[in-house]
Amino acid sequence: MVFENVKKASKDAIFGLNETYRADTRKNKVYLAVGIYMDEHLNKPLMQVVKKAQDQVINQETIANYLPVPGNPAFIEEYGKLLFGQFYEDYKERLSGFQTVGGTSALRMGADFLFQEVSKTVYFPDPTWPNHYSIFERAGFKIEHYPYYSFEANALETTALVEKLKSIPSKSIILFHTCCHNPTGSDLTEDEWRGLLPIIKEKEHLPFFDFAYMGFNKGVKQDRFPLELFIEAGVNFLVAASCSKSFSLYCQRLGALYVFSSNKKEKEHIDSQIKKIIRASYSNPPAHASYIVAQILNDPKLKEQWIAELDSMRHRIETMRKKFADGLVKKAKHKDFSPIYKHKGMFSYCALSLEEVDQLIKEYGVYTLMQGRVNICGLNDKNIDYVIDSMIKVADK
Ligand code: LMR
Repeated sequence: MVFENVKKASKDAIFGLNETYRADTRKNKVYLAVGIYMDEHLNKPLMQVVKKAQDQVINQETIANYLPVPGNPAFIEEYGKLLFGQFYEDYKERLSGFQTVGGTSALRMGADFLFQEVSKTVYFPDPTWPNHYSIFERAGFKIEHYPYYSFEANALETTALVEKLKSIPSKSIILFHTCCHNPTGSDLTEDEWRGLLPIIKEKEHLPFFDFAYMGFNKGVKQDRFPLELFIEAGVNFLVAASCSKSFSLYCQRLGALYVFSSNKKEKEHIDSQIKKIIRASYSNPPAHASYIVAQILNDPKLKEQWIAELDSMRHRIETMRKKFADGLVKKAKHKDFSPIYKHKGMFSYCALSLEEVDQLIKEYGVYTLMQGRVNICGLNDKNIDYVIDSMIKVADK
């Protein structure tokens, strides 16, 4: 009876809802939960460019060797160029790069490294993606918060955010969402990022950027703005990026961690430490998806196709968000749903109470998460009116 004291763990805040949804037999149920792209038929398609690149690389995958511990060098190089644009070549000697098992393990490898080398406390935006808590707590961190979004005002709290960053101890680790903030869909403007830079520089804070939704706010180049801003300013930072959404490679688990240090010697030391952490965690990453992304980024025609496909995915989300906001604003008599117009990326935060979220699921089969985080991709012309009407019935008071 070795395991008799093992208690049942609570369900995952995001994936945990899937079982309930699958078991729901109602024909009109609507799935607006996990952040995954769905087309107008609510299919979850592999991007065509990914399929094309996959067909090209599959014949080259004849060697059965392990990848190096940091991953496929061609992927790390091409993805680095994608994240840091024109600055990549100039700052390459100060950038440690690692191919990781999705964005989640980029966060975890980064967290393990920071806990070992930098600090035992991390500052999260309030609110943030629930899995940030699991990842950083498991790495040993004490979690603190900075104000980000006010549920009461249904708006960003930029002034309070700035004050907090000024008041916390120097050299604090600050987690940022590079774009498409999860769960609120509300991002800082370029000017607001510019405003944070001198404070972060002066206090020598260490930003850790979570970059899971590249291309879903304004576009690939625009969305990497904070990374370019901080690299050009010479500020040390980490970035955990994901290929799940931007390349539709969810189930292939491809991501990357880059650490921007102050010089070549620091980079070499960081490389050596993170390699040890990776070796003890998953040894070295799986290869397949890294060949696909390197192939796309290395070939101008494929890259152009990738950007065009990503743009059209973003446009579908923008169109559905506008219809959703139009419908809610028009029908609501009490609640202000207009902030939805300003949201970016897959999510919109609809400012619902936990009871209202529960009622939406139980009475109407409309599955949203955390204070009404809606994955806009789950809406199409067939279900949008039903979702709007259900939300009005539940929340317009
Ligand atoms: C989400 O927030 O729904 C996605 O990032 C998927 C996940 O891993 O939680």
